[in-house]
Amino acid sequence: MRTIIEPFRIKTVEPIRLTSEAERRALLEAAHFNVFNLHAEHVLIDLLTDSGTSAMSQEQWAQVMRGDESYAGSRSYYEMESQVREVFGYQHILPTHQGRSAERILFSVVLKPGMTVPNNNHFDTTRANVEYQGAEALDLVIEEGRQPALEHPFKGNMDVAKLDAVLRERGRDKVPLVMLTITNNSGGGQPVSMANIRAVSSVCREHGIPLFFDACRFAENAYFIKLREPGYQDRTPLSIAQEMFSYGDGCTMSAKKDALVNIGGFLSMNNDAWFQQCSNLLILTEGFPTYGGLAGRDLGAIAQGLREVLDEDYLRYRLASTTYLGQHLDKLGVPCVKPAGGHAIFVDARAWLDHLEPGQLPAQALVCALYEAGGIRAVEIGTVMFGRTDPQTGREIPAPLDLVRLAIPRRVYTQSHIDYVVEVFEELSRRKRDIRGLAFSYQPPFLRHFTARFQRL
Ligand code: F0G
Repeated sequence: MRTIIEPFRIKTVEPIRLTSEAERRALLEAAHFNVFNLHAEHVLIDLLTDSGTSAMSQEQWAQVMRGDESYAGSRSYYEMESQVREVFGYQHILPTHQGRSAERILFSVVLKPGMTVPNNNHFDTTRANVEYQGAEALDLVIEEGRQPALEHPFKGNMDVAKLDAVLRERGRDKVPLVMLTITNNSGGGQPVSMANIRAVSSVCREHGIPLFFDACRFAENAYFIKLREPGYQDRTPLSIAQEMFSYGDGCTMSAKKDALVNIGGFLSMNNDAWFQQCSNLLILTEGFPTYGGLAGRDLGAIAQGLREVLDEDYLRYRLASTTYLGQHLDKLGVPCVKPAGGHAIFVDARAWLDHLEPGQLPAQALVCALYEAGGIRAVEIGTVMFGRTDPQTGREIPAPLDLVRLAIPRRVYTQSHIDYVVEVFEELSRRKRDIRGLAFSYQPPFLRHFTARFQRL
């Protein structure tokens, strides 16, 4: 069968509103050409992020009603703890209000200025939290992972030889842990193979350095392994996930992705001493260790979401619908990161809008054009997010790539919404030469993409 069947039917609906192109032009100007400043009700199809935007199931809403709101020792916490332990297998579990708070707590405990954290690719909040401690966030993704047009089944893999060299040179005093982001969001939502996880783990163990996962999209990674790695075809996503985590010593998790909830996260690890220190910090800034900044109902919804996300019918549909968007953009000649990622399609805006220089922020220009032409909100993952302005010359030092991410919220849009997105691209391909570049008119000192302002060139 060609048709992708969403393995659910819709019980509650949320209206979305059409606006005219003229209205959107005015709204975009008022938002200083930064789509983070738009009111969501003015967006038709919101592909800004797959984070915290999932539709919860009837069983998750039932968990919300059943949530135990006790300050300490809530039943919902123990349900979540038991589900997290079943999938991830680590000794200690601390709920946090989202992924970055898990990162901040972990890095505050393990990092000192001058240290290094290797990762395949740090996500922006992970990088910012590492750098905030005065440490270096080092990206060691394989060479293939840096080339958008190249087909490779596991472009999220880490370069094991480079990792080994870094660990040899700096040693465990300077590298307190290694991270692997599954799937690799900044690199295009690309998976990491089990063979690579095993090899990274073995290098880490040789050097006595713990391996932590940034596990946001672990279920999508597990399903890619099932689809692409020999020997895993007959395994369940749960058993693949369990094997992945068995090679590590802990994880940070944003439950807003592959736990199918709107808020939440956790930090999990085996190290007793680190856990003690992390618990103390958690109490200081998040809350008591059995709720960590979340309501009991959120913890219950996470427990249920972790069960549902590993369902094969769900994962098959999830990856098929992302691939569908990728294939249709490909047919239109829109260059995308190959192959399609798990949670998103990444358009190579620098290649597509080749009439713009990288300093003219082609990916941000495309984000604005998508909104103006079709009410679609996407996000820039390029020079705005990862580049910087040279303080001497005032010129932009571009990021290696200028991508636009079309992130697909889980269980939210149907295939006809996706067809509409394709149609907007079709329209833009006819008039892409008219898309103008942008320049910063304001930027904050870090995580500049959230609050920067732009003007059209
Ligand atoms: N790590 C990765 C790989 C992420 O993609 C994110 C968030 C985080 C950590 C931080 O988690 O938002 O719960 O604090 N990514 C979102 C995105 C924001 O749009 O990709 P958080």
